[in-house]
Amino acid sequence: MSFRTTTDIGYVEDVSPGAGALPPRAWYASSDARSLSLNGRWRLRVSATADAEDDSFAEEGYDAGDWAEVTVPGHWVLQGEGAFGSPVYTNHLYPFPVDPPRVPTENPTGDHLRVFDLPQGWPDVSEGGFVLRFDGVESCARVWLNGTDIGEFKGSRLAHEFAVGHLLRPSGNILAVRVHQWSAGSYLEDQDQWWLPGIFRDVTLLHRPAGSVLDFFVHASYDHVSAEGTLRVDSDVDGRVTVPALGVDVPTGEAVTVPVQPWTAETPTLYDGELVTEGERVALRIGFRTVELADGLIKVNGRPILFKGVNRHEWHPETGRALDPETMREDVLLMKRHNINAVRTSHYPPHPAFLDLCDEYGLWVIDECDLETHGFVEQDWRDNPVDDDRWTPALLDRAARMVERDKNHPSVVIWSLGNEAGTGRGLTAMADWIHGRDTTRLVHYEGDLNCRDTDVYSRMYAFHEEVERIGRGLDGGTLRRRQLPFILCEYAHAMGNGPGGLADYQRIFEAHDRLQGAFVWEWIDHGIKHPELGYAYGGDFGEELHDGNFVCDGLVLPDRTPSPGLVEFKKVIEPVALTASEDGTVRVTNKQDFADLSALAFTWAFQVDGETVASGDLTVPALTAGESADVKLPQPPADAPAGAETGWTVRALLAEDTAWGSEGHVVAWGQVPVSARTLPSVTATAVPVVGERLITLGPASFDARTGELRSIGPVEVTGLRLDVWRATTDNDDGAPWQSDVRHGVLWRKLGLHRMRHRLDAVEVGPDALTVRTRVAPAAWEQGLATVYRWSSDGDRVQLTVSVTPEGDWTVPLPRLGVRFGLSEADRLTWFGGGPGEAYPDSRAASTVGRWQSTVDGMQTPYVRPQENGARADVRWAELGGLRVEGDPEFWFTARRWTSEQLDAARHRSDLVPGGTVWVNLDHGQHGLGSQSCGPGPLPQYFLNAAPAEFSFVFTATG
Ligand code: GAL
Repeated sequence: MSFRTTTDIGYVEDVSPGAGALPPRAWYASSDARSLSLNGRWRLRVSATADAEDDSFAEEGYDAGDWAEVTVPGHWVLQGEGAFGSPVYTNHLYPFPVDPPRVPTENPTGDHLRVFDLPQGWPDVSEGGFVLRFDGVESCARVWLNGTDIGEFKGSRLAHEFAVGHLLRPSGNILAVRVHQWSAGSYLEDQDQWWLPGIFRDVTLLHRPAGSVLDFFVHASYDHVSAEGTLRVDSDVDGRVTVPALGVDVPTGEAVTVPVQPWTAETPTLYDGELVTEGERVALRIGFRTVELADGLIKVNGRPILFKGVNRHEWHPETGRALDPETMREDVLLMKRHNINAVRTSHYPPHPAFLDLCDEYGLWVIDECDLETHGFVEQDWRDNPVDDDRWTPALLDRAARMVERDKNHPSVVIWSLGNEAGTGRGLTAMADWIHGRDTTRLVHYEGDLNCRDTDVYSRMYAFHEEVERIGRGLDGGTLRRRQLPFILCEYAHAMGNGPGGLADYQRIFEAHDRLQGAFVWEWIDHGIKHPELGYAYGGDFGEELHDGNFVCDGLVLPDRTPSPGLVEFKKVIEPVALTASEDGTVRVTNKQDFADLSALAFTWAFQVDGETVASGDLTVPALTAGESADVKLPQPPADAPAGAETGWTVRALLAEDTAWGSEGHVVAWGQVPVSARTLPSVTATAVPVVGERLITLGPASFDARTGELRSIGPVEVTGLRLDVWRATTDNDDGAPWQSDVRHGVLWRKLGLHRMRHRLDAVEVGPDALTVRTRVAPAAWEQGLATVYRWSSDGDRVQLTVSVTPEGDWTVPLPRLGVRFGLSEADRLTWFGGGPGEAYPDSRAASTVGRWQSTVDGMQTPYVRPQENGARADVRWAELGGLRVEGDPEFWFTARRWTSEQLDAARHRSDLVPGGTVWVNLDHGQHGLGSQSCGPGPLPQYFLNAAPAEFSFVFTATG
């Protein structure tokens, strides 16, 4: 160990990983050695530069009485309401001049101070044997205990320990930690996220009794042929290993083979064991599994696996990357309940407790090192630290700190070197070291396109077509790469409304063995709770450089409310497929990799016009992984009324409570239509009556001059007309660097947000009112000849809209339908797709049924407001005293603001309800895609401008 006595700040810009820390080792909780959490309230002083203050604050007698207080773990910029500076968000640009390893003079520095006593009954300090552990500090810390400088470290999301026994005293220990926001380490931590300085993970004092456990490595493999596990625990300190349930009691270092149940993400069997050395007992949770690359595939326990994964950053809208245990558990439970089976810990090792949860609940983990140097791309990767030997010790330190800390987790099946760091010798050195240290797992790094150092070919955001080619082995590349399995470590950018195209990807993954799944980008929106804005994103703190709401691209909203994208993902990756088969049977396929279906119960329901009229249990054999069977459904109840739409819904539910879901939780479902509805139609018997100001037709009245609808029965209707605009989604707008066609940009250029409606004719016929218009943007020749034809049988009124594109339409439309305003509407009921929103390429989760909601309940509160809330396949809807039936089915949206207001809003707080509810009845919607960082919608989801006709039948219900 080295000690420093100077107060120089040279270490801040030193490329070395630090000085004074103990070698990395496994992270574990002792069963009997004491530990003292130093989390809680600490004194804080923030200075503008690294050297503004000397180190006298670390000394005895320093009076910090006038300092502020913060909570540790925490980020100081998220505490004190701005008094300690603000968060900064950039995607890949360094928020400081790139001149490695130099950092700016303006370097916010938080001096943290905490005084603590050893608890009563603790061993005497003269025994020595105490370790101080920091689980995460961003980005560089220097530590003093009782006035002695004990070292400094970088590597924000990695644990660092210091031996402190010789410095402790029974009471009045002064722990001083100086944290610099910027350091040489910042060059290695250019992940796309908020820059958030602070001591953001636990600080703990650990007693290390004489003869206690130091480091140990649990090797627990599974032989799928013999169904036996082999356990060997290598330990720095000799001891014994016991696993009572297996009758195991062996010395450390000795292998023992016994029959076991294997660990998989589907069946996460853990055996409780203990490592006992002379001075300590450590609880072990052992999962037996073997990970290997065989036949060009990632196999676990002899079988290839399919990742249905997400990229998880650690995030909480109030505490940033300081996560409490409940939040970590909530993430895992939400993932399990949405059929997710894998996590990439983008882009750094998570809090170790998260990995315990992955072991316990069952998630495959790609554990990623805290390394990204993405900003160097701006200078063609010149001076990239991963290709500069001076930085290699820091890289190896990071690799070792990850592997040593996390090596005993069965959930971790792949180590990842980091993210977006280009290529270089430093990465090769990391891979070599990891391969040498741990032969039981694979190595991943997406940036290694030739797979020189890695065991899996990995890409991000590859288009469907290319993924399919890779699946077929037609992608070329080096021989080594062609022999490797493929994963998408990132795909389906879940920014705002979307992603679209998940089901299309899944079909491709399932069709080709080489494709072993993918990880959605990303799990959670990193919105920061804000008193005025709702959730803040990049730029909201006055950052000089920022990337706006690109930080809000998750499957769950900042408060972890599942977004429609997560609901869609759950459906697309469901572990059991329930599909229509021949003659009253349903095909059940177990799509799991290991488990049979015995944990699931199945039910059927028979629906008439969306309402369940009969239901019961369905007997399904306990199919093994990969098996299918056709299961007979009961006879449909005979008494469905003529013209009704009928069909089956079959569900797979948890048969019993499990660790992550209750009995009855729906895991998978399918719908099998039986008979189609009779389409609505109106016999045109009513005659239009022309008055001075109004034309009346059955229950409807129209402006006599413009032909515009005024009312239907007692219900006033405003502004009914053709509508093609939607408040562009993040995926419509696309990312600025996307060279492909970006529809949101083209739409605005063409002026689809400012269409003009020219009135050509109001024609009163014997049984119809016909209004002819041309809808077109200023400046261009393109237009939509639009005819509204109204007819009535005296009670109901039917609108038929015919649209004929004119001119050279080279862009698809955002939407095509009518919109109108109602003065009073709140509750709504519909028969069609629900309960949540759906779009053409994100509609797998839309279930046909009878649904109820409110206008407010129809909105999806994306952090940056944008098109949302459409319900698919709506047969009829009722709201505000009107019933609307569609021929054909329509997309249904209702909101308290116009699309234009939605489009203009930057934050939720900009959306102020007006007195009108705006309703859109759409014949078509354009797909979503995920062009905010990936492909746009596939061509089959384009809403191309083409002749169209659609109609609605309106009835006043009041
Ligand atoms: C990837 C990157 C992620 C994130 C994503 C876009 O290139 O690895 O960290 O930036 O793009 O949201």
